[in-house]
Amino acid sequence: MDITILGIESSCDDTSAAVIRNGVLLSNVIAGQKIHEAYGGVVPELASRAHQQNIIPVVDQAIRQAGIDKADLSAVAFTRGPGLLGSLLVGTSFAKGFSTALNIPMVEVNHLQAHVLAHFIKQREDDNDPPAFPFLCLLVSGGNSQIILVRAYNAMEIVGQTIDDAAGEAFDKCAKVMGLPYPGGPSIDRLAQEGDPKSFRLNKPNIPGYDYSFSGLKTSFLYLLRDRLKENPLFIEEHKADLSASLQLTIIEILMDKLRKAAEGLKINEVALAGGVSANSGLRKALEDYAGKYNWKVHIPPFAFTTDNAAMVAMSGYFKYRDGEFCPMDAVPFARVLV
Ligand code: KG4
Repeated sequence: MDITILGIESSCDDTSAAVIRNGVLLSNVIAGQKIHEAYGGVVPELASRAHQQNIIPVVDQAIRQAGIDKADLSAVAFTRGPGLLGSLLVGTSFAKGFSTALNIPMVEVNHLQAHVLAHFIKQREDDNDPPAFPFLCLLVSGGNSQIILVRAYNAMEIVGQTIDDAAGEAFDKCAKVMGLPYPGGPSIDRLAQEGDPKSFRLNKPNIPGYDYSFSGLKTSFLYLLRDRLKENPLFIEEHKADLSASLQLTIIEILMDKLRKAAEGLKINEVALAGGVSANSGLRKALEDYAGKYNWKVHIPPFAFTTDNAAMVAMSGYFKYRDGEFCPMDAVPFARVLV
């Protein structure tokens, strides 16, 4: 029998709905929220309000584009956390109402695990090169930088993570001080392609194990700008590309160095990338270079699955549905990771 899952994602500032049938993607609709650009970051109150406006049309479009009827759905999967509480409440409440009205079960999904499981989404029936277990997944986004050991769909262990800022946050905050629009990662990526990555030396952390730290790098970038601006008020303007290239290279080196150590230490050579920062062209290239150098088999997600999307939520929901893992009606969202 077909298993058809509606996925709902509303953890941050993207409202998304997707339909997956037997692991094959039928639709994935995402409504971004431009309103935050004026504030240089996501404003939680505005995000929940925009989710409330978007959720019905987004779900409606996802069902239409999938070419299915509501009655074909086997279950509703929704992101329960981590994320912004007000945003998560919109998706959670919608999932409850929808599953009650259709009399189908509800499946809760962990947003971070969903990023990892995005690698199993089939875009076509004959798509078939998912990572083999066990594999390592470098999950890098605006809120997280983690190395996850993935033993099975439902068995993941965080073996390393940031002790302060996330990699995406480092991109965004450094971009902000250069006067670039939010989110800064894509602008830095674009500018870096025209700059010399060896122009400026920035601080790298010295943290034990497989953990990350990006706050020192951020501070050293800030101090560099402050000192050079004293000598030349046009310093940022004149060196935007070189600054971006140097910053990007440093972030990539920090990420890849720990990933290599984890792969070596845990003796794993199947490596995947996930999360918003995995759209970065330099990071994607670095992973491919490491694949050649260290004999890794690497999995780089399609751009559509790097940022927040409901396809990955529907995919995670599909695995849980198969295992009969349903969620009670009194489930509430969680803002932080539950341990
Ligand atoms: O996973 P994601 O969409 O959601 C949150 O964690 O909120 O990640 C967003 C992050 C932002 O920090 C953004 O600057 C970063 O991903 N990002 C990039 C690129 N595209 C998005 N960072 C570097 N290079 C990119 N091309």
